[in-house]
Amino acid sequence: MRPDTAEARSALAGRLGTRGYEHSVAVAETALVLAEEYGVDPDEAYLAGLLHDWSRDEDAATLRESAERFGIELTAVDEAVPYLLHGRAGAAALKERFPDLPERVVDAVARHTFGAPRMTDLDRVIYLADALEPGRDAAVANELRREVGRIPLGELYARAYAASLEHLVRGRRRIHPATVEAWNSIVEGRD
Ligand SMILES: [Fe+2]
Ligand SMILES: [Fe+2]
Repeated sequence: MRPDTAEARSALAGRLGTRGYEHSVAVAETALVLAEEYGVDPDEAYLAGLLHDWSRDEDAATLRESAERFGIELTAVDEAVPYLLHGRAGAAALKERFPDLPERVVDAVARHTFGAPRMTDLDRVIYLADALEPGRDAAVANELRREVGRIPLGELYARAYAASLEHLVRGRRRIHPATVEAWNSIVEGRD
């Protein structure tokens, strides 16, 4: 079945703590604004925003189990930071729980952590909503919010992606191979 918004919210409330739940609702609302601005299906954007962090509160053991069960390939970075699996594991779990969930929504959930080569507009909207929801108060989020509707969606995504990559490098954090792929795709104009 395809969950409606009320179903998605109540299923989510049983899975996420208050912080994660409030973040998810904020991402859905931000996704709706972006969708309307950039001509993306608003219902799919809202639903994908609500569901994007379906697996974010799962512990490392559960995420590893899900990865194995759903055939998600583990890189060394996933082994070191299992939290990074939550997008892909969440997408696979959602597909099982809601078989009629549109594939586009499932893909946007899977891609929200690293992006991917050839992102759809819905994928970009969810990636951006996750970075720009009102609870994100970094200076860069404020700068990017001012550009919504003023620059194309692809450019907004490229800027948000660059900022996230800079943040990883400055914090001396690991870079997942999927991040390198997504970034190269942006630079080569394939995205
Ligand atoms: Fe997430
Ligand atoms: Fe999120």
